[in-house]
Amino acid sequence: MNDGANNNNGGNRKLNINVLRFNPQEPGNVPRMQTYPIEEAHGMTLFMALKEIREKQDASLQFDFVCRAGICGSCGMMINGRPTLACRTLTRNLDSEITLAPLPVFELIGDLSVNTGKWLRGMSERLRTWVHMKEEEIDLRRTEARMEPELAEKIYELERCIECGCCVSGCGTARMREDFIGAVGLNKVARFKLDPRDRRTDEDYYEIVGDDDGVFGCMSLLGCHDVCPKDLPLSSQIAFLRRRMVKMGWR
Ligand code: SF4
Ligand code: F3S
Ligand code: FES
Repeated sequence: MNDGANNNNGGNRKLNINVLRFNPQEPGNVPRMQTYPIEEAHGMTLFMALKEIREKQDASLQFDFVCRAGICGSCGMMINGRPTLACRTLTRNLDSEITLAPLPVFELIGDLSVNTGKWLRGMSERLRTWVHMKEEEIDLRRTEARMEPELAEKIYELERCIECGCCVSGCGTARMREDFIGAVGLNKVARFKLDPRDRRTDEDYYEIVGDDDGVFGCMSLLGCHDVCPKDLPLSSQIAFLRRRMVKMGWR
């Protein structure tokens, strides 16, 4: 949304950045909203706005950024109620009143900083998200075996996930069910199922995700698909996994 007060490049507006602040490490600290007024600059991203606030107004404000280019996945946050990457969000596309909150579901470190790494590590360990090589593939001379370009392209498409956590925070099931693996986990399962080097069978995969914390927990809410900043085909991957279940007659 745009309140129309700026030009195409942004700038010339007064912005109010409203941040939900809470430091769970500090005894007595309670959640509260804090407003930081700033001047909008041309081409300003939320990363730039937050950096300016931290440099000029409040050094204690916590948030995460690494790459600033939509690659590392560390800057996910709720921007006006929607999980998004702050480094890829231009203030000119938002109203002058902007509300920021940490991503729900993940452990809060402080203010806008959450521990997505801990959640994703736990999920990856449960799903064992690495290629389980077939015996013959373990021979290093064969690990470079040719893969059809079309298949390699399909796998690459799913590997574009940057593990930002936005799909998890945008999912109603993940908010209710602590161990739900989310679209990020379902996407990983779909990716490894495609890989001809992986020895795991349908039965192996369904042992891992064939319950309410996996495929059966997904209620097709599709918030994940709507918010994924990398536009991954999450709805079709989830539907693919579901079809496999039905085909096997497990449900
Ligand atoms: Fe982020 Fe999309 Fe990966 Fe989910 S699937 S973690 S939204 S990049
Ligand atoms: Fe959640 Fe996406 Fe399923 S939002 S319920 S994982 S379709
Ligand atoms: Fe890396 Fe935003 S800072 S994705």
